[in-house]
Amino acid sequence: KILVLDFGSQYNQLITRRIRDFGIYSELLSHKLSAQEIQAMNPKGIIFSGGPNSVYDEDAFKVDPEIFKLGIPILGICYGMQLMAYDLGGKVEAADDSEYGRADITVVDDQAVMFNGLPKEQAVWMSHGDKVTAVPDGFHVVATSQNCPIAAMADDDRKFYGLQFHTEVRNTDHGLEILKKFAFDVCGAQANWSMDDFIDLQVNSIREEVGDKKVILGLSGGVDSSVTAALLNRAIGDQLTAIFVDHGLLRKNEADEVMSALADGLGINIVKVDAADRFLGKLQGVTDPEKKRKIIGNEFVEVFNDEARKLKDADFLAQGTLYTDVIESGTDTAQTIKSHHNVGGLPEELGFKLIEPLRSLFKDETRALGEKLGIPHDLVWRQPFPGPGLGIRVIGEITPEKLALVRDADAILREEVKKAGLDEEIWQYFVALPGMRSVGVMGDGRTYDYAVCIRAVTSIDGMTADFAQIPWDILQKISVRIVNEVDHINRVLYDVTSKPPATIEYE
Ligand code: XMP
Repeated sequence: KILVLDFGSQYNQLITRRIRDFGIYSELLSHKLSAQEIQAMNPKGIIFSGGPNSVYDEDAFKVDPEIFKLGIPILGICYGMQLMAYDLGGKVEAADDSEYGRADITVVDDQAVMFNGLPKEQAVWMSHGDKVTAVPDGFHVVATSQNCPIAAMADDDRKFYGLQFHTEVRNTDHGLEILKKFAFDVCGAQANWSMDDFIDLQVNSIREEVGDKKVILGLSGGVDSSVTAALLNRAIGDQLTAIFVDHGLLRKNEADEVMSALADGLGINIVKVDAADRFLGKLQGVTDPEKKRKIIGNEFVEVFNDEARKLKDADFLAQGTLYTDVIESGTDTAQTIKSHHNVGGLPEELGFKLIEPLRSLFKDETRALGEKLGIPHDLVWRQPFPGPGLGIRVIGEITPEKLALVRDADAILREEVKKAGLDEEIWQYFVALPGMRSVGVMGDGRTYDYAVCIRAVTSIDGMTADFAQIPWDILQKISVRIVNEVDHINRVLYDVTSKPPATIEYE
């Protein structure tokens, strides 16, 4: 495995991800780890990521200097290189102008292992304020650029390497090859990390940890909890009880699809709780979005708790926490943006021990794992769906009648988007019911019925989004079908706002 130490660069996850793509296990960890802790993990190599600091900042992120004595190859990228140079006795200075963007480097060391077989001149991506102006003892200059005379440095004896540019971004022409050379040629790592190995490893470790005890899991129908359930089922079979709370705010046929794929298809032991009445009862007359969200969240925990209490002898609680959730909770860099609440407010007082077998996986790896475990492709690659479900897509008061309208119209939209082959291109697409009614004409008669809004967006992470440009002919088909097939809808609107200023959901 290769460890990436996190100094706060926005690209640090990408380094980890790239190395995993080579078939080498990699983790992003705090730069605060001690040399001893690192040694105990026995990595083949260490990468210092980039970061926003200057080594001269008072609170600059540092490493345990003993790391340099472990005999493990180290690659410093950007800030990581500056830190290495600074710690080992080289010189780092503020550049007159910070450099951001493409730059051309020239490789000046013919023997350079990191550039072996690559062109002497190549374009790279730079993003830095400081730069190394003198290499430490034992190092030599490997590549230069106009603004940055020491764009790469090496100490081949100790196997320490520094790159001022970012190898992990696509704008660096040969970035992946350079990173590969570090991983395979310098560190001698082997490509032996695969999803099959991951499954074997997890199955064994879950069996060992759980023994003959029982595990419960809250199944939302989403990807993460479904894959966790499938993995646990593979490991411990009926010692797992998955509690699937159907809050009555799921999409059309969703509960049945989840049950048929997971319970019937994979044989997962699922207790399905039909709690629609309970939720709708509590939501009656409530129009405030935040109140609605709170009620749904609280009720979810209560229903889950009620069921969990019935299973008196469960010792473990499994959760579908992903690596991104773990990283977002912070590896002690300035990048800590929010702490994660994967399954908000689950029953701490019930005293379960936590099992989180997906903690080391990225989302797309989780999806791939799900498919390997036999979950149908469509279920695993579904668009994101919010915990409060249709509850935040029926604007204002939720009634069974409005839910039915939204559900039917949404099903038509999804069907047509899929038919048009746009389903994996558009990040999220759904129908919301604003609750307004308007006048229409159908046949010879006047109607006074509901309007629905089509919301479709493209996005990378849901933090920002652009409205998706579904072709007119497809929109027309969707509109005609919705109005014809769903009673009491006589108007279809298309939302053309991006986020910001709007949000993706309506409440
Ligand atoms: P907004 O509406 O904030 O949504 O632009 C951004 C993304 O988050 C999803 N979302 C949620 N997901 N629980 C969730 O699990 C929630 O309460 C929730 N609210 C919004 C939304 O679907 C979009 O992908």
